[in-house]
Amino acid sequence: MTASVAPKLDVSPSAVRAAAAKATGGHAQRADPCTMVIFGAGGDLAKRKLFPAIYELAHQKLLADDFALIGLVRDDTTDDAFRKEMRDAVSGSDEIHGFDEAVFGWLESRAFVTKGDIDDAATYEAIKKELADVHEALQLKNNNVLFYLAVPPSVFRSALTHLADSGLMPHSTSADDRPWTRVVIEKPFGHSLATARELNELVLARFGEHQVYRIDHYLGKESVQNILVFRFANALFEPLWNRQYISQIQVTAAETVGMEGRGKYYEEAGVVRDMFQNHLLQLLTLAAMEPPIAAAGDAVRDEKVKVLRSIRPLLAEGNPAAVRAQYTAGSIDGKNVIGYRQEPSVDPRSVTPTYAALRVFIDNWRWQGVPFYLRSGKRLAKRCTEIAFQFRTPPDLMFGGDTGGVRPNVLVIRIQPNDGIALRFEVKTPGAAYELEPGLEISRVDMDFSYAEAFGEDIPPAYETLLLDCLVGDQTLFTRSDEVDMQWSVIDPLLDYWQRRADRQIPTYEAGTWGPKEADELVARDGHVWR
Ligand code: BG6
Repeated sequence: MTASVAPKLDVSPSAVRAAAAKATGGHAQRADPCTMVIFGAGGDLAKRKLFPAIYELAHQKLLADDFALIGLVRDDTTDDAFRKEMRDAVSGSDEIHGFDEAVFGWLESRAFVTKGDIDDAATYEAIKKELADVHEALQLKNNNVLFYLAVPPSVFRSALTHLADSGLMPHSTSADDRPWTRVVIEKPFGHSLATARELNELVLARFGEHQVYRIDHYLGKESVQNILVFRFANALFEPLWNRQYISQIQVTAAETVGMEGRGKYYEEAGVVRDMFQNHLLQLLTLAAMEPPIAAAGDAVRDEKVKVLRSIRPLLAEGNPAAVRAQYTAGSIDGKNVIGYRQEPSVDPRSVTPTYAALRVFIDNWRWQGVPFYLRSGKRLAKRCTEIAFQFRTPPDLMFGGDTGGVRPNVLVIRIQPNDGIALRFEVKTPGAAYELEPGLEISRVDMDFSYAEAFGEDIPPAYETLLLDCLVGDQTLFTRSDEVDMQWSVIDPLLDYWQRRADRQIPTYEAGTWGPKEADELVARDGHVWR
């Protein structure tokens, strides 16, 4: 990464690229030459996210000329059929900036397919042969390979073991080794603390940590990367960022979508593994961490791990301050939707939670006693991911007394949609006279920053950013082994607690609402309400 062109405190590789692009007249640092091998190339993730991201990198001339792509599939897809699937996926994607026939033509001429079963050693011999053939056909001058595991977590172990055993991915001891081989592992990394540890042991026994990219796509979102810049590149907010000024923090990841055909996966995962163990804890750490000594790599990850270590065990006081629930049929945006138990591949008596809310305390100097409320759910009233910091209420001596008076300031970091930041504060309502109408003369207003308004719609989607980082070898936005371990350590006791009660009924909420009443009670006990 060309740090010299980056703003001093900007942690975002994409911002570095943007700066590099400016400085070099439009040519940012390009990816290392490499062949990318996608396991699960016929799947949903490849089509919805990976192909559009690869195309967009090609479009921006960020891929090396020596790039090639091999898709591993389970059926008899031919090279031509594979290229057609890629074309449909890319041209129909709203994550690209215009479909350019010449760019796609270049890409498809470098795309090939191999058939194989991930559990079968012969598949890895077939990949070796395909790599050799592609080298020959395209006259490639490099031997770098990026393996992307866009497959269910149940086959991660098998794929990683075979990659090591076959020699396709030799153990490297230094990030400077050339040619390089790297592997991207999708989430969830493990199913529990024990299984995540087993997977980490395997990974670290067979590969160097610098070869392993554990992806959490939230970290690739511009609005998420901006959290550190916003906090540490402005003198205004950081002095207030502590227990003295902030009374509570709410992290929300609300979705309107239901299962979208992922019932089988979701039955095993549930909302806590799907959203909390990774995305929500990442948002929490970025919101709460201390300033890192540098704006990239391990310095950032070290500080995140410290936050995770400081989280008070969720069962410290016996029963956890946590709620889980499942959606029933309802209506969203005027459309009727089915309940979770009616979704395809879902057990009609399932007690898998699709919603959860919990209260977390971070027992460190900065945050002692400040509740962090985390909630996420499917089929909620509105799609909205945000972090809201509520400040303490000022002494209310002048403006209202008994009638209400001033309300606390709120700073909201909107992750999506309409990424941006809003600061809510009190102003005098024009015309009102406070001697006559105590409490009524004050209005709440928002000062609002919107990414789209400030920078246009040209914000790179998360997968594009993260893929380029894999190709240039920047791990800042990926989860390190100890980080994954700590994330599971936080969540595992809660999963275990609920698992022991799995035969009981689970609270429900109607699709299209804001979740179960139990979640309102959770915050009400502390005298708070959800935003
Ligand atoms: C994924 C989860 O990691 O994140 C999905 O598996 C969820 O269930 C998705 O819908 C949410 O991502 P985003 O970017 O839409 O907030």
